[in-house]
Amino acid sequence: MIVSFTLNGKLVSLDTDPLRRLLDVLREDYRLTGTKEGCGEGECGACTVLVGNDVVNSCLVPVGCMEGEEILTIEGFRNTDRYRALADAFAATGAVQCGFCTPGFIMAAEGLLRRNNSPSRDEIREAVSGNLCRCTGYNMIIEGIQKAAERGKDLW
Ligand code: FES
Ligand code: FES
Repeated sequence: MIVSFTLNGKLVSLDTDPLRRLLDVLREDYRLTGTKEGCGEGECGACTVLVGNDVVNSCLVPVGCMEGEEILTIEGFRNTDRYRALADAFAATGAVQCGFCTPGFIMAAEGLLRRNNSPSRDEIREAVSGNLCRCTGYNMIIEGIQKAAERGKDLW
């Protein structure tokens, strides 16, 4: 089956098994390895990408469902001022340790801030509740997202 979608701003088409996971297509076919595989079953958020404005676990989505969609991975998001604001805030609050979970948290944060550019701590906590981190204890990540939202009000 041929599937066409916009990937990080570029229209792409590929001929593939429509049941393959979006995560595998991103990592294997497009070498977008910033999207990580943790659990592979929708529990950890390491594989988070945006599909339109929706925050999606790419390990759970068959690529055949992506026809006509707009997909943003961490590699595409990296070219934006909003990424810079989040990355700087994560660095300032110590929200990155081993970093394995970080792309997923950043994409979940972008999804939240697109919907709500002034989230409360509880709203942030809820928005990243599908993302697991083994290192930070979460508080630094929540603080990082809050700091980015406060500093980057004009960006979102
Ligand atoms: Fe997709 Fe864990 S790898 S949620
Ligand atoms: Fe290591 Fe989150 S920083 S898993």
